[in-house]
Order: sequence, then structure tokens, then C-alpha cells
Amino acid sequence: MKKKILITGGCGFIGTNLCIYLKKKHYLVYSLDNLSRKGSIYNLKLLSDLKIKNFKFDISNSKKINSLPKFDIIIDCCAEAAVEVSRKDIDRVINTNLIGTINILKKVKKDNSKIIFLSSSRVNSIRTINKMFLRHDFKNQIKIKETINENFDTSSPKSLYGLTKHASEMFIEEFSFAFNLKYIINRLGVVSGPLQFGKQDQGFVSLWIWRHITKKKHKYIGFGGFGNQVRDVLHIKDLCEIIEIQIKRFNIINNKIFTIGGSLKNSISLKKLTLICQKITNNKIKFSKLRKTSIYDLPYFVSSNKAVSRTYKWKPKRNIYSIVNDTHSWLVSQKKVIKKFM
Ligand SMILES: NC(=O)c1ccc[n+]([C@@H]2O[C@H](COP(=O)([O-])OP(=O)(O)OC[C@H]3O[C@@H](n4cnc5c(N)ncnc54)[C@H](O)[C@@H]3O)[C@@H](O)[C@H]2O)c1
Repeated sequence: MKKKILITGGCGFIGTNLCIYLKKKHYLVYSLDNLSRKGSIYNLKLLSDLKIKNFKFDISNSKKINSLPKFDIIIDCCAEAAVEVSRKDIDRVINTNLIGTINILKKVKKDNSKIIFLSSSRVNSIRTINKMFLRHDFKNQIKIKETINENFDTSSPKSLYGLTKHASEMFIEEFSFAFNLKYIINRLGVVSGPLQFGKQDQGFVSLWIWRHITKKKHKYIGFGGFGNQVRDVLHIKDLCEIIEIQIKRFNIINNKIFTIGGSLKNSISLKKLTLICQKITNNKIKFSKLRKTSIYDLPYFVSSNKAVSRTYKWKPKRNIYSIVNDTHSWLVSQKKVIKKFM
């Protein structure tokens, strides 16, 4: 029989994509989301069209979580996911990201079910990343070929957001040790694709595309303002596929942490992303330079997929062009609706 799965943050970008993907694969899918994210109402409609029920309440409410029915697996996608917001609204990030995950863990323990936790590359040390990569000359295109894996330094500072994700990981490991609870932790880099509304706090790829579609000027921020900082990007469909593989093989492969991202093949600088956006939208926008950036910003991050690829014989199928293309097509098709959420 197909598994009964609860997806927390089920009306968010990753949560909705996962709900729809797994429902189409005939899993019994449920969502938990308080609809606090702008745009989540739009996603809720997509879920109800597929008869996916959303439990609308706050994940920090342990009583309500306790009263939910039993699920085979809970995929925890609920978070205040914007790194910068975590500095401004500390209570919110702790209650949602940490207390929320602890509530889910208590529920998983009670029901003897399993958890897949969506963690973040932000668990890694900002200081060590800066030490390794800031010595490069960001005036020019950088030619780094390094990737960051599960064994990278996780000492602080890592941002308050990163801290809540790392603390959640540690709670999961403690619960597993104490109560024999089975888990998988996925440390994600940048994920992008349809259902991202082109907002700053949803990641730079959809923001870049949206700016080009709407012909609005933009800025290269930080690291001299040259636009040479680099990230790797994973297509949301590739993420859904690896999570389904993890669900299918949970009984054999569990209690592991994986770094998952687009890796070197899908790594890109802001400048190069601009060129792709120009090509796809046929629009050229003006960029100004802002040399300084947030203390949380990173010059370089590219995930290593070595462990996840070796374990599951999986690698991302979609390249950076198809990520931009698919996100662009979706944003254009939903332009009128999306403007309401900006
Ligand atoms: N998108 C990425 O590139 C990325 C990268 C690394 C990690 N992640 C992680 O993946 C997960 C999903 O991210 P996303 O991009 O889909 O974020 P998102 O903001 O689009 O979705 C989060 C959802 O959680 C809901 N939510 C927020 N606070 C809540 C609360 N207190 N109670 C109930 N619901 C609440 C929101 O309404 C929203 O629908 C998060 O855990 C995030 O940390 C995402």
C-alpha cells in the first residue's frame, strides 16, 4: 500500500511541488501550513484541486500537531526560509524552524513513523567559507572547482537561520539515538523552479528572471559589486525525484545526512545568470554596483553530490538552462496572478 505522508510547509515553494509530485505518484499526501508566506494561498488552491488536505495551523502549536492522525513519513519543509529575515524576526525563526521541528519529532516518536528533514547549506560556517574563498579576486570571473560536502565545518557563525537548521538536525540525531527514530537529513543548496514568485527572499534565480521579465533595474550586491559570486542551483523536479527515491528506500537507507545541490555542473555566477536571462527573455536591464553586502552573504557555495549520488545512484538531470527556462515559462504564464503576491 502507498505510504501516508504529511508535508509540513506544504503550501510553500518546495512543499507544494512535493505534494503535487507525490500525489501524482499515488501517495496519500497531506499538508500542514499556516499560509503565512505570501503566495501560499495560490498554492493552496493547487493542492485543493488535487484533493490534498491542508491542516491550517502554526507548526509551533504542539497540541494541534499531537492531535493529527498518524502518518508513515513526515517531510519537514516548513520554515521561515529567508536568511535575512532570521536577523530581524528572531522569535519567528526559532518558533517555526526549531520548535516546529521538535514538535514534529515528538509526533514522529509517538507514532513510530519516519522523518525527512529539509535542512540547508546554511548549517556551514560562514567564517570558514569566507576564509577559503574570499582570497580569490572577485573582480574577474573566478575559476574555483571546489565543492562542499557533509563533513564541512559547521561551527558558528552560520546565521540565525542556519543555527535553527543545525540545531534541528542535532535534535533529530538525539531523538534517533534515544528513541530509535529513523531519519534522513537533506542539506539543500539553492533550489529553483516553477512556483517561485520572483521575490528576493525566495532565492536569486527567480528574482533575476522576474526582473528581466518586468524590465526593472537591479544591483550586483557585495564582493565588489562585480556579480562574480557563485552558487549551485538544483531544479525542483530533481529534488522531488531524489526525495521519492529516499522514500522508497527508507527501510534500507536511513539515519544519514546528505548534501544535495546542483553541484559544479549547475554552478553559476550572477553575471552569467544575467546573460542567460537576457537570452531567454530578450530583455536587457540595467545593473548598478553595491560593493558591500550583508554579514550573512557568501562569496561562493557549491554543494558536493558525491555521497547522495553514490548512495542512491542519482544525479540531477536538469541543467541551469532548463531551470531558468522552466521558471521563466511559469512566471510568464502566471504573470497577472503573481503581481498580487509581490
Ligand atoms: N528553496 C530553497 O532554495 C531552499 C534551500 C535550502 C533549504 N530550504 C529549506 O526547504 C524548506 C522549504 O523551503 P521553501 O523554499 O519551500 O520555503 P517557503 O517559504 O516557500 O515555504 C515554507 C512554507 O512554510 C509555511 N510556514 C511558515 N511558517 C509556518 C508556521 N509557523 N507554521 C506553519 N506553516 C508555516 C509558509 O506559509 C510556507 O508555505 C525549508 O525548510 C527551507 O529551509 C530551501
